[in-house]
Amino acid sequence: MRIGVIGAGRIGGTLAAWCAESGHDVAVTSRHPERVRELVDRMNWQMRVMSVPQAAAFGDMVIFAPNWASAKEAIDASVHGLDGKVVMDVTNPEDMMPGTAGTAGMSSGASSKSPEMVAAAVTGPPTDATDRMIARAGGKSGLERLIEWAPEAHWVKAFNNVPAEVLSRRRGHDPLLAEFVCTDERDAREAACRIVQELGFAPFYAGGAKAARLTETGGPLQSREVDVQDATDALAEALITLR
Ligand SMILES: NC(=O)c1ccc[n+]([C@@H]2O[C@H](COP(=O)([O-])OP(=O)(O)OC[C@H]3O[C@@H](n4cnc5c(N)ncnc54)[C@H](OP(=O)(O)O)[C@@H]3O)[C@@H](O)[C@H]2O)c1
Repeated sequence: MRIGVIGAGRIGGTLAAWCAESGHDVAVTSRHPERVRELVDRMNWQMRVMSVPQAAAFGDMVIFAPNWASAKEAIDASVHGLDGKVVMDVTNPEDMMPGTAGTAGMSSGASSKSPEMVAAAVTGPPTDATDRMIARAGGKSGLERLIEWAPEAHWVKAFNNVPAEVLSRRRGHDPLLAEFVCTDERDAREAACRIVQELGFAPFYAGGAKAARLTETGGPLQSREVDVQDATDALAEALITLR
């Protein structure tokens, strides 16, 4: 698959390298190409540098990883190149989610959930109840704001809730790290789950675009390193903090 990565910084560069290692053709963007020269040279012919509109047009799928403050600018620079594409948003809005900051009381102990229940959470239908609970708490997720800015793209949130260093340490190791996936789009969900799995993590569907707030800055799942067998409990506990 061809993957465009908009913003090849700490998280974008890390994911770009792993996608290239997995055999994808990757195009990374930088307004300062010398910053990504070492990365691109290391990946040889699997990776190249492009401008934002070129990388958006190049990708069958796009990973969206600029700083939040530059997100709108990056979308505008893509000149509708994201339209109709699956775009995986890994950003975190810098403004806090009111009333849910912190992770006090969140359990990280062993889960009693069976593998079947965990599998159901990954593959089950969109959780309308989850979205209703989050809607009652008010406010918009960063993902919802990106959807407003580029409504024709098929947005999905993933890889945003723990630092790249944690991803590097946990990648491919048992128990697999749960990677929370939030989207309203079926094709985006399938594509993101595939990539998450390919890169060595366990995709865990947490809900629609509203649910992304749980995983973003100030949300109860932000900075939480959750093993896949604990993901159902972690999501349930995160929803309780919204009450
Ligand atoms: N760092 C992590 O471990 C981590 C983990 C999960 C999520 N996140 C989230 O991911 C986002 C990026 O974080 P980061 O730590 O990777 O930041 P970073 O290292 O500063 O990288 C940001 C990238 O955005 C690009 N960029 C800035 N302005 C742009 C614009 N107007 N158009 C296109 N690209 C632009 C920069 O590219 P050039 O300046 O070279 O053009 C740079 O490569 C943040 O929202 C952060 O919260 C980070």
